[in-house]
Amino acid sequence: PADIYGAERRNSRGLDLSVPDEAARLHHAARALSPLRAGPFVEGVARGGGEATAVLSPSEADVAIGQVVEASPADIDAAFAAARAAQPAWDASGGFRRAEVLRAMADALEGDMERLIAICAREAGKTLADGVAEVREAADFCRYYAHLAQTKFAGAETLKGPVGETNTLELRGRGVFVCISPWNFPLAIFTGQIAAALAAGNAVVAKPAEQTPLIATQAVALFHEAGLDPRLLALAPGRGETVGAALTAHPQCDGVAFTGGTDTARAINQTLAGRDGPIIPFIAETGGLNGMFVDTTALKEQVVDDVILSAFGSAGQRCSALRILFLPRDTADGVIETIKGAMDALVIGDPADPATDVGPVIDEEAREALRAHVARLEVEARVLHRLDAPAQGTFFGPVLAEIPSARFLEREVFGPILHVVRYDPARLDEVAGELAGQGYGLTLGVHSRIDAFARQVRELVPAGNVYVNRSIIGAVVGVQPFGGEGLSGTGPKAGGPNSLSRYAIERAVSVNI
Ligand code: NAD
Ligand code: ALA
Repeated sequence: PADIYGAERRNSRGLDLSVPDEAARLHHAARALSPLRAGPFVEGVARGGGEATAVLSPSEADVAIGQVVEASPADIDAAFAAARAAQPAWDASGGFRRAEVLRAMADALEGDMERLIAICAREAGKTLADGVAEVREAADFCRYYAHLAQTKFAGAETLKGPVGETNTLELRGRGVFVCISPWNFPLAIFTGQIAAALAAGNAVVAKPAEQTPLIATQAVALFHEAGLDPRLLALAPGRGETVGAALTAHPQCDGVAFTGGTDTARAINQTLAGRDGPIIPFIAETGGLNGMFVDTTALKEQVVDDVILSAFGSAGQRCSALRILFLPRDTADGVIETIKGAMDALVIGDPADPATDVGPVIDEEAREALRAHVARLEVEARVLHRLDAPAQGTFFGPVLAEIPSARFLEREVFGPILHVVRYDPARLDEVAGELAGQGYGLTLGVHSRIDAFARQVRELVPAGNVYVNRSIIGAVVGVQPFGGEGLSGTGPKAGGPNSLSRYAIERAVSVNI
């Protein structure tokens, strides 16, 4: 869509990794990365006299790629004080000024792409392709929210009313937003939350996941270099139960944007419920138990391509990833055999190697949880296929398993494990109802050449993002606004026309002339 200047809003183009020199350059940048430092960053100044701990790379056992200092209560107070002081002028500056800064941030991200991809590979275990996608999505969020800032926050809208009275409605920032993000999109979601809050006229205190403070530090520095008053954005790294809890309980916090696990969202909700003072908004984007339904008319090769990408891309560490594939019993065997063959072609290894398809899982705790799940599958279900993984680092070989029904999975399984359920088409309502009954509602896939089948599945399984005859990952900002319902989140969707609604307050003014 055209922005208010008439310019076309475009998504970032990224880099073409099929160009050998491009891929080699990124590989070299990742291997040559110098150790980095993260810590509390307030008013553009690094603070924190606390003890530094090592930041480890998931793909290299015992290699520290940087250090991090956790934010102290004094750092947190200082962050809120600076943000509180600067926010009114930022809010009053209007959507056009804020859009300029966000566009400058998008350009800065693209200008620093190589280094950012290198950090994503080493700190978060992201493949180079996923690293490119991270930077692109972060830049897209900035440009998309810039567009919303200048279209929705350009001034008061005049509403229809009685003669002799002027009625206006204006969107304004709420104050200081706390943004809490996960490690699996350590740049895109971290930047996207901040960009949304800033676009709406807020200041931000941001807490990255404990596993990925280094890339977050770079993003905050880029925001400041892009022209943002440093008081408007502070970084408070640290653990969820200490720093995260202190931020959400802080009396100066006017709103919380969170992306992470469903249980963590509940914990934050409880903290917010226990606070004195105003009732503040909580935006939560959480986990999923995502299914894909295939019927007998689907094209097997296309199904398998989309399944492999959706289940094992990003090592299955996407909230949108495919967890349960529903296959009609008459054609299930053929699809399963082809999936096994396609799994055998996956390259598992160093995320900075351009040939790698599947990198490591984020840490030992994540790997242990996956191992425990596979142990359960071996006893209570059936493991159909399993790939080996490199010994060094926290790698986990992709697994294919058959389970009796969606009810077998009580919660999200976060990694490269795909479950298959064979179903009798005559019992589709019941089988789909079992998935819906688990209460999540993030992504849903359908593979069929019959429109009525796709419509039926969509009605049976409520989900925020439905994909027909394609993969179910990789929502594009402004094209597929992303977010779930039920146990998967509160909305509003990220990267959509309503994204900023809960970051803002509405003020109606009626003047009798
Ligand atoms: P997590 O819930 O463990 O942590 C997310 C963030 O919350 C981290 O910064 C963490 O430090 C913080 N946190 C933890 N406890 C807290 C507390 N008590 N108070 C305040 N903050 C606290 O999630 P994760 O392991 O980092 O990320 C993976 C999860 O995120 C998966 O469940 C995935 O589905 C979900 N996710 C959802 C989306 C989406 O858009 N719906 C996108 C990406 C990831
Ligand atoms: N927005 C991310 C995706 O669609 C999570 O894969």
